[in-house]
Amino acid sequence: MKEPFRAKQSEVAISNLMQPFQSNTYGKIHGGEIMKMMDNAAGIIAHRHCRTFIATARVDQMEFHIPISIGNLVICEGRLTYVGKHSMEVMVTVLVDDLDADSPLKVALTSYFTLVAIDKNGKPVPVPPLEVVTEEDKKLYEEGKARYLAYKASREEHS
Ligand SMILES: CC(C)(COP(=O)(O)OP(=O)(O)OC[C@H]1O[C@@H](n2cnc3c(N)ncnc32)[C@H](O)[C@@H]1OP(=O)(O)O)[C@@H](O)C(=O)NCCC(=O)NCCS
Repeated sequence: MKEPFRAKQSEVAISNLMQPFQSNTYGKIHGGEIMKMMDNAAGIIAHRHCRTFIATARVDQMEFHIPISIGNLVICEGRLTYVGKHSMEVMVTVLVDDLDADSPLKVALTSYFTLVAIDKNGKPVPVPPLEVVTEEDKKLYEEGKARYLAYKASREEHS
């Protein structure tokens, strides 16, 4: 198995200029377009960590705080927060840059993706550990662990 990977090293950002084909009839971008970008960012981050195939197993609550328009630059920033035995949690934040305005980036939403490392037959495989160093790493790790344990408990309860 690979050496522990520092949480900070997992950071990735992808960006995309919003186009008319991604919008509804009044120029606002479909939520699904943003969700797809977020899933792509989460997938890249998880894939870089485990270097095997991955599958998105779960997406936590998504709450869009601001509308996104045609011509906005959307930046999806993400990083690993927690890893289990075969699963990885990635936090993805969507930032919006209105290129026509001289204003700071706005946060559209943050969500947590759980991805599972799999082999070519779709069977879960172990993931490398995650090294948490900074106070922020530790805080995010503990929060991710709480979500992981809550999922396990609810799965147990419903099985
Ligand atoms: C994700 C998938 C590979 C898990 O396979 P599985 O045999 O059910 O896996 P297991 O029950 O052994 O669990 C393996 C790990 O995944 C985690 N996991 C599985 N389903 C999960 C879910 N719905 N939410 C969060 N974690 C989940 C488990 O907690 C476990 O984590 P751990 O090993 O770190 O403790 C399988 O359910 C699958 O292929 N799902 C479809 C994925 C897909 O198509 N995604 C794209 C959606 S369009």
